[in-house]
Amino acid sequence: MSRKDRGAVLWFTGLSGAGKSTLAEAVAPRLRAEGKKVESLDGDVVRTHLSKGLGYTREDRELNVARIAFVAHLLQRNGVFVLVSAISPYRSMRSAARELIGQDFVEIHVAPPLEECIRRDVKGLYAKAISGEIKEFTGISDPYEPPESAELTLDTSAMSIDEGVGRIVQRLRELSFLEPSSVDRQPSTGNP
Ligand code: ADX
Repeated sequence: MSRKDRGAVLWFTGLSGAGKSTLAEAVAPRLRAEGKKVESLDGDVVRTHLSKGLGYTREDRELNVARIAFVAHLLQRNGVFVLVSAISPYRSMRSAARELIGQDFVEIHVAPPLEECIRRDVKGLYAKAISGEIKEFTGISDPYEPPESAELTLDTSAMSIDEGVGRIVQRLRELSFLEPSSVDRQPSTGNP
């Protein structure tokens, strides 16, 4: 089966408030417009169902992320484009997901500076983490290990959501998960 007929797992990793879910939500209609089946596995949502009751110790995060990877794989092997948005802070957990899913795993590091996430503080959690009210908060009192070889890194403090979506779609074309765009398909005119 050629790559463009298979599913894929777009694994958005990054700090809380980095823009993982926002980008995943924005890219979904673009993929549907290309005829793909799309499903989302968002950390915040998974934690209210599949991972209800889990906390934020390393052990609990590992279990949460392993569950997400398991479900993502089931969907992906049935031709679905799965949009995973989870901090997934440890390299080892992301490598395990990559190993399970294989070559259809696309790691997207959503990487605005920590200061930008603190400034945005969409859920008010950074203020609580800094004051010590919330313990083990990623980036403040718990580690985030950035990917060393993500398929794509997006600094969402330096681009619009549309631009981010455009970069994702372009990368998926480069990796042959999507057909070349009609613009790319036009024969070269020989002009630079
Ligand atoms: S993960 O580490 O297990 O991948 P996940 O993405 O599912 O995390 O959940 C992260 C979300 O939980 C954050 O966006 C935030 O809303 C919330 N949260 C609550 N406590 C913490 C914490 N201590 N560290 C990180 N996120 C937390």
